[in-house]
Amino acid sequence: MTDLLTLRRPDDWHLHLRDGAALAAVLPHTARQFARAIVMPNLKPPVTTTALAAAYRHRILAARPAGSDFEPLMTLYLTDNTPTDEVDRAQASGIVAGFKMYPAGATTNSDSGVTDVRRVDEVLARMAELGVVLQVHGEVTHEQVDVFDREQRFIDDILAPMAERHPRLRVVFEHITTRAAVAFVRGARAGIAATITPQHLLHNRNDLFRGGLRPHFYCLPVLKTQADREALIEAATAGEPRFFLGTDSAPHDRRSKESECGCAGMYSAHAALELYAEVFEDAGALHRLEAFAADFGPDFYGLPRNAGTVTLVRQEWSPPAIYPLGGTEFVVPMRANGTLRWRQVVS
Ligand code: NCD
Ligand code: ZN
Repeated sequence: MTDLLTLRRPDDWHLHLRDGAALAAVLPHTARQFARAIVMPNLKPPVTTTALAAAYRHRILAARPAGSDFEPLMTLYLTDNTPTDEVDRAQASGIVAGFKMYPAGATTNSDSGVTDVRRVDEVLARMAELGVVLQVHGEVTHEQVDVFDREQRFIDDILAPMAERHPRLRVVFEHITTRAAVAFVRGARAGIAATITPQHLLHNRNDLFRGGLRPHFYCLPVLKTQADREALIEAATAGEPRFFLGTDSAPHDRRSKESECGCAGMYSAHAALELYAEVFEDAGALHRLEAFAADFGPDFYGLPRNAGTVTLVRQEWSPPAIYPLGGTEFVVPMRANGTLRWRQVVS
């Protein structure tokens, strides 16, 4: 049995860092494992311009723990009104790694999202020309579509036609949750990849209702069936370059989750690699964790793989019930009060 696991330093290709006190509270968790992270732009108000992204990036850099060389890779929030020359500004800035498309109303702070993908076709065409990556939250939002079918419908109605209209656009289908998404990504043209979260690898939708309503298992896209989960595990652990790590760690104050209308998001930054390691180990694929966590992401984005390593040791530990989130706020982490099998060695 392997008891010590040393990997090339990984990156998180989908992360929510928030802002202000919450940013300062959660960033050390990510920075201690990951060299870089794709930072989501769904602040209030959203990060819609290169100038806003540059300012946010400075706030992130200022919030890094002493001695940290963590590098935020910024994204811009695509709206119906994003001007085409914003793509040029973003590319010229050297700090923007992509544009994030949220269908309007799909998730937390997505009110300004795209109402019809054809409205942004010109922007997408410019992104394809300049080689700028599109990150997609892949769910339709029509009230009449069942919440568990929203990803599959997005593939058929929006993603597949969009990928054909823009054959050179590089697309990351984010936090995929279904067998249909795995099949789509596998069969898609070059330039299409997907990220997979720890929660969708570790849980199925039964966990939302285990003995009662479990708000800390509510995220978007919502957890799916066991068959979907198995397809995701198979994709993540097969050593296929199109599938790579993106935690979607999304901190919320505990009171906003344990509420009459609880918001979506699970927090995993405190133990991200440790959670993925359990999945890979149980699939007999620990030797493939490094490529999923540290190689395929930079290869897709055309960035160098990281220097340096991180080490996990086989050692049981228990994440606390809560972590501070600034002021009077607290976040309930994944596996709170439970047991994790791996633990990062921090030198
Ligand atoms: C995210 C958040 O809280 O910002 N929530 C989530 O459940 N994943 C938004 C998102 O990525 O959809
Ligand atoms: Zn997210």
